[in-house]
Amino acid sequence: MGGWASAERRRALREQLVAWQRQHGRNDLPWQRPATPYRVWISEVMLQQTRVETVVPYFERFMGHYPQVADLARAELDDVLGLWAGLGYYARARNLHAAAQRIQIEWGGELPEELEALQALPGIGPSTAGAIRSLGHGLPAPILDGNVKRVLARIAGIEGWPGRSPVARELWALSAALVPEEDCRRFNQGLMDLGALVCTPREPACLLCPLASICTARATGTPEAYPTPRPARQRPRRPVRLLLIEHADTLLLERRPASGIWGGLWSLPECPPEQDPLTRAQALGAHCVPTGELPQRHHALTHFELVLQPMRLQWSAAATAVGEPGRQQDWFRPGQEALPGLPAPIRRILRDAGYPIEEGPRGP
Ligand code: ADE
Repeated sequence: MGGWASAERRRALREQLVAWQRQHGRNDLPWQRPATPYRVWISEVMLQQTRVETVVPYFERFMGHYPQVADLARAELDDVLGLWAGLGYYARARNLHAAAQRIQIEWGGELPEELEALQALPGIGPSTAGAIRSLGHGLPAPILDGNVKRVLARIAGIEGWPGRSPVARELWALSAALVPEEDCRRFNQGLMDLGALVCTPREPACLLCPLASICTARATGTPEAYPTPRPARQRPRRPVRLLLIEHADTLLLERRPASGIWGGLWSLPECPPEQDPLTRAQALGAHCVPTGELPQRHHALTHFELVLQPMRLQWSAAATAVGEPGRQQDWFRPGQEALPGLPAPIRRILRDAGYPIEEGPRGP
């Protein structure tokens, strides 16, 4: 948490954020007037995957039908789902209905104050529990929704994608260290408002930010680089088996079809995934004996990664004529004669097999 262990610094941050929220934050949202635990709960669940402008009319209609926990608890699920129609993620509505029945029975219709009790209810995670306790009950509790993650990562310069648990733990610890005993309602609303209105994902309005002077990310000059984005998805891997067929000091190469990867270049014959390599080798016209595997080589392309697995085979027949219809195949003497243009990964495999192939810019 770096410098945030200092009580002085935390106090300065709280004071600035609370003063800003009072003047520039959102204080007229329907769930704030009045901000009861029940109304905060319903609004938070609606806001989990949906924008504020969309939520407002749904929230008002929902409250018109179910002004209290008891009304929701005794409603028909189909009616609740009907009022939810258009918001999406209907598990949210089912969970609200189930949780309302439990709150009615277990808590006499009042939402509990403790985070643990709130989180034991269906559909209430740690941040929603923190919001109900702080915004609804007015008691101190940390929150950490997407906006708050961004604000805190920037202020403290926390590196790493927040989807990783050590990073999330650090952000939660900071949120908990900052939340004040007094004014926690306005403080947490201020974190959310700052994230939504000023500290936006792209082009944050640092000139309007009450925390600009203490913000680590701003000091780096590229605040939008925080939080670290989700790492790029790995490319799907495509295994390719290649046959390295040798006969005396010659090696069998094959020209690739004109289209597709390495179109028109010479390469090692490829064994289709569904075929046994020895069968494929026999289709080439001879009996082959496997003489060992060579190391795998990975080759990244735009949309996938080739995993090249070469298999070494000794051609046992004396004949050197190869013939598969429709394919151009021939024997070459690596090291003794110039080879045709070979793709770089194939050149590497030949080097792995001990052939004197130079590293260098031949072939793609
Ligand atoms: N998103 C989640 N909670 C919110 C709140 N209380 N106000 C505005 N946006 C929110």
